[in-house]
Amino acid sequence: ALQRTFSIIKPDATERNLTGAVNACLEKAGLRIVAQKRILMTRAQAETFYAIHKERPFFGELVDFMTSAPVVVQVLEGEDAVAKNREVMGATNPEDAAEGTIRKLYARSIGENSVHGSDSPENAAIEIAQFFSGNEIVG
Ligand code: CMP
Repeated sequence: ALQRTFSIIKPDATERNLTGAVNACLEKAGLRIVAQKRILMTRAQAETFYAIHKERPFFGELVDFMTSAPVVVQVLEGEDAVAKNREVMGATNPEDAAEGTIRKLYARSIGENSVHGSDSPENAAIEIAQFFSGNEIVG
């Protein structure tokens, strides 16, 4: 079914001027960018977004990283967009990512892994609502 997912192009990628390269991978995979903005995340935004990881040892590092430089937040639309985006992103750890995936091509480490994508349609709706209002999404 036609679905939406939430995506972030992370600071390691925006800093290396890879926004267009990442978007080309997404579009080639059949995903349509129906909303997109470049923002500097506040600590409060990052802490809310990653609240599920609050007790993890890397939480502080994760929040520091996500607020260290601009990110591009996006809504992607397509057939099975959640799964399709996870496929084109590749595994969280770039060492485990398949050839041709965004993380295999561009990620530096498990932390600086270039992109985020929602892990379920339910979380996609929650994540989209954190960063976009309805009239900012144009399908
Ligand atoms: P993301 O999909 O944005 O969701 C949680 C993030 O935590 C994940 O991508 C990684 O970038 C980050 N992360 C996961 N494991 C580690 C780790 N061991 N060290 C640092 N960051 C991590």
